[in-house]
Amino acid sequence: MKMPNLNEAHKRSNICVSFEEFNFDNNLKNIGNGKSYFVKTYGCQMNEHDSENICAMLEEMGFKKAEDYEVADLVILNTCAIRENAHNKAFGMLGRLGHIKESKNIIIGICGCMAQEESVVEEIMNKYKYVDLIFGTHNLHRLPELLNNVISNNKKEIEVLSIEGNIVENIPVKRESKYKAWVNIMYGCDKFCTYCIVPYTRGKQRSRMPKSIIYEVEKLVKDGYQEVTLLGQNVNAYGRDLKMDYDMANLLEDVAKTGINRLRFVTSHPWDFNDRMIEVIGKYDNIMPYIHLPLQSGSDKILKLMGRRYTKESYLELVDKIKTKIPNCALTTDIIVGFPGETEEDFNETIDVVNKCKYDSAFTFIYSPRIGTPAAKMKDDVPLSEKESRLYKLNDLINKYSKENNDSYLGKIVKVLIEGYSEKNNGTLMGYTDTMKLVNVQGDEKNIGKIVDVKIDEVKTWSLDGSIIK
Ligand code: SAH
Ligand code: SF4
Ligand code: F3S
Repeated sequence: MKMPNLNEAHKRSNICVSFEEFNFDNNLKNIGNGKSYFVKTYGCQMNEHDSENICAMLEEMGFKKAEDYEVADLVILNTCAIRENAHNKAFGMLGRLGHIKESKNIIIGICGCMAQEESVVEEIMNKYKYVDLIFGTHNLHRLPELLNNVISNNKKEIEVLSIEGNIVENIPVKRESKYKAWVNIMYGCDKFCTYCIVPYTRGKQRSRMPKSIIYEVEKLVKDGYQEVTLLGQNVNAYGRDLKMDYDMANLLEDVAKTGINRLRFVTSHPWDFNDRMIEVIGKYDNIMPYIHLPLQSGSDKILKLMGRRYTKESYLELVDKIKTKIPNCALTTDIIVGFPGETEEDFNETIDVVNKCKYDSAFTFIYSPRIGTPAAKMKDDVPLSEKESRLYKLNDLINKYSKENNDSYLGKIVKVLIEGYSEKNNGTLMGYTDTMKLVNVQGDEKNIGKIVDVKIDEVKTWSLDGSIIK
């Protein structure tokens, strides 16, 4: 049994990152024959991509995907620790799985960021004794062996490492989409924003080798993929740990040259966004004019308390540069309200930035203290009712600018990557523009998987309606 340790996870030394190749033990090939699995994913794109690895490993073991968790023989929850409600959702699901296990012999596994928290693992061991398998973010590749131990020896497995980091290449992947692919370029984060649990749950920042990333994208291009999203918690700092004189601007340029039709990246930290990156984004037509640039707060006092290392002024200067050098660039953001010490004036500074940046959309959150982070020791002094009223006010403003930005698309012809049928499924197709606007599209289904010209006929707050013109 290997337990997580947040203190260990906080360490950052100069150790070299180890690069390993995934190795599948062929003896495990038929372990899952005749059994079905269901993976439930919470959290960010990184977790979604990790789940694509988990599903592929399970299928190599012979498991088949189940329609729903209620009918599966194996259920894995890939969890997120970013806010309390993410925790609550996963624990709620664990409760439901417990009821199922009373009448049926199922295997229950927990992984992802919550598994990296010692308080969570202790709670699971004490209150959810029916969980069979717990593994963390550093040893995803060990799933086949750990699961084999659970099945063959009929015993619980807990293996969570709090190491500074390793990179395992070539873990199999079962991609959710045939047209859009996630590609990790780095793991972990060294920024330690004071409210954030990610540097503890994902470990030290470590970049993949450029050649591995480029090779993966070249293969995706050959396989007919249209869009690639480069993934990392702080992609602009890519390469810094490699000591190779090669950074995100170099990588973006090299990946753009693979000829992939659409290229984007998440998430950018404003602190590391340099002019060369902006130049490269402006220069290549296949780099999407879309930037997610988390603000968190518009108040210098709060930004300092958050450890974000930029000011309102420098953020606004960066946005200005982006908007001048990358024409029609869509800009989205993340904002936290109710951070400890946030006064009405501080919140108004945030509102001021929103008024100046006129974001295309934003994820807005009420501050949630995370055990083990520096902010959790600060006095959480903004009353919940005040936090909520700030959130509503902010959301109203964000929606206003969303609609205004969308209005500018009315009557225009835009390129849309058609992904499939819309949720309404009344024959309407759906897809995204290169600025990440959701478009409901009238047209022939033979266009699914293609980038087509769409004329925008109607504009809503969160989506556009249009029809294919060729
Ligand atoms: N690496 C990304 C963000 C990862 S987390 C970045 O630095 O931008 C996604 C978003 O969750 C963050 O941008 C932040 O707005 C929000 N978040 C993180 N920790 C939070 C907390 N403790 N309470 C509320 N929101 C939080
Ligand atoms: Fe969290 Fe900050 Fe790292 Fe983003 S940059 S993952 S907010 S610590
Ligand atoms: Fe959540 Fe972990 Fe992502 S905490 S947001 S799943 S990195």
